[in-house]
Amino acid sequence: MNASGHERTLRIAAIAGDGIGPEIVGASLPVIAAAARLDRVRVEVTELDWGGERLLRTGAAMPEDATAVVREHDAILLGAVGHPQLTPDVSVWSLVLPLRKELDLYVNLRPIRALENVDSPVVDLAGTDFVVVRENTEGEYSGIGGRVHSGGAHEVATDVAVHSRRALTRIGRYAFGLARERGQRLTLVTKSNVSRHGYALWDEVIGELGAAEFPDVPFELAFVDAMATRMIERPRSLGVLLCSNLFGDILSDLGAVLQGGLGMAASANLCPGGGVPGVFEPVHGSAPDIAGKGIANPLATILSGALLLRENGCPLGAAALEEAISATVGRAEATTPDIGGTADTVTAANAVMDEFEAATP
Ligand code: NAI
Ligand code: MG
Repeated sequence: MNASGHERTLRIAAIAGDGIGPEIVGASLPVIAAAARLDRVRVEVTELDWGGERLLRTGAAMPEDATAVVREHDAILLGAVGHPQLTPDVSVWSLVLPLRKELDLYVNLRPIRALENVDSPVVDLAGTDFVVVRENTEGEYSGIGGRVHSGGAHEVATDVAVHSRRALTRIGRYAFGLARERGQRLTLVTKSNVSRHGYALWDEVIGELGAAEFPDVPFELAFVDAMATRMIERPRSLGVLLCSNLFGDILSDLGAVLQGGLGMAASANLCPGGGVPGVFEPVHGSAPDIAGKGIANPLATILSGALLLRENGCPLGAAALEEAISATVGRAEATTPDIGGTADTVTAANAVMDEFEAATP
């Protein structure tokens, strides 16, 4: 332990990014750092000005040694990308996807837990607590494809979906392990009835893996279209959903509705055992429609911070953040307009800090 009473330093690289990114990250970081103190951990933040502004100014959203820079840290907190002067694909392919790929963050974890006092168009959500595990490196987001006959009547475009046994096995092992830990069923979400090659491989590899290594974990297959209905009709029947990159992206946005909207949905990008920093980020984007207004909900970012703390040996801080959020969401003066409140971003973030400070002796 050092003189300040802290046992360890947690180095966070903060990439605020575009749009509401700087507002939500700026408001959330002090709250996350305060929570880490419960685990006797001191947070040290490096602010990185990566994103759309930097791309417009210098031609690149990140420096060439970006991966080396972030590897000097324990974790990355990312706000959002999506600059109004850039097309969305440029924003995403210049920062979010390269980071995920270069650090080989093959797990995208998106918990979906319904909180009391948060309104949702879906009624009777009590007890809803599942998690989407999304394969994060390939599938429909492989980047392979092209266009020919540009602009002509015979123009053709392709995006090639890649599904490899190696990637399926490692994400499958993670998802089964998580289901075992949570004491829940694993549901594999595919579309093998139509996509007979790639998704058939998913069904085979995950089915075999379960039988060989996780016979104790209840397992089922579901088609993605039926799953969309079931998430709304019977969300309590779900435990761990294992999805491809595309299906996990879509279903977790749908899941955000069960949590009170995109302002409440958190995620983590991880390479378990890989010795690289994970990327922790809200599910939402840069929300250009509300950027600069000071009304963006910081709770998705703070919940992502809770995931960050839990993955980095700060379980007390993580739990404190989650409990404090559960306690603030019913109160209008402590929450932003998207979930029915009247507070601005900073007030909502500080309300979480006040809540857990009051709850901690
Ligand atoms: P979006 O998530 O930015 O916004 C969708 C809707 O949700 C908007 O009405 C927005 O105001 C609202 N919203 C989002 N976050 C909120 C928050 N914290 N508090 C209150 N309301 C919130 O998605 P959209 O509009 O499709 O994309 C905008 C840009 O973000 C695009 O450039 C897109 O490519 C990018 N994007 C980036 C992501 C990332 O950084 N990982 C993920 C998704 C989109
Ligand atoms: Mg998405």
